[in-house]
Amino acid sequence: MATETSKAERWQRYYQETGARPPRETLLFALDRFEDEGREPGFAVDLGCGNGRDTVEMLRRGWRVLAVDAQESAVAGLAERPDLPPVGELQTLVSRFAGARWPEVDLVNSSFALPLCPAADFHATWRRIVASLKPGGRFSGHWFGPNDDWVGDPSITHLERNEAEEMLAGLEVEHFREEEDDSVTPRGTPKHWHIFHIVAQKGRAA
Ligand SMILES: C[S@@+](CC[C@H](N)C(=O)[O-])C[C@H]1O[C@@H](n2cnc3c(N)ncnc32)[C@H](O)[C@@H]1O
Repeated sequence: MATETSKAERWQRYYQETGARPPRETLLFALDRFEDEGREPGFAVDLGCGNGRDTVEMLRRGWRVLAVDAQESAVAGLAERPDLPPVGELQTLVSRFAGARWPEVDLVNSSFALPLCPAADFHATWRRIVASLKPGGRFSGHWFGPNDDWVGDPSITHLERNEAEEMLAGLEVEHFREEEDDSVTPRGTPKHWHIFHIVAQKGRAA
């Protein structure tokens, strides 16, 4: 219990630090592609929404969004944001990925969240993500590579680049950027990051 409490407190500090930051580049890329295709705003799920830096951008562009996070404080903080746009439509769900269910969607966004679970949950969730994408739907988000400092923590999933590419094989990869960087986490801990930035689209004939 004490562990769960301190975990919640750590996340709360993370949300205070990052919640007001701009949306992720991967989300912007995906939303811009939908607009380039002349498509109306659709329905998205934001897995691991945190305090909603990406969710707010989707709403601002008129999307309906189901924002999912295991931390109650994340969802509560999102729902109370003073800058929630008057357009779009927000639904929220407090759940771990393994227990979360969502309908068919146009976009699954998961920024810096999906790798934060053990490998079995990560892969099961990825299969559900792909299955839930409508033809022409997109995934935008981030996975962690093998040189990341958190390798060895069994609660976090890391992928070799070829494993990541194999997982994306059934989709059209529109954006794949590999980043290695020495910086500090939002909580101030020095870290070597190894990140795959991904946007991929399910075929329209799928
Ligand atoms: C690093 S934060 C990222 C938040 C936001 N997407 C962003 O880009 O800033 C990761 C979020 O994923 C959530 N999360 C991590 N593992 C999860 C899981 N297994 N199920 C549901 N949410 C999870 C955490 O509670 C946290 O809010």
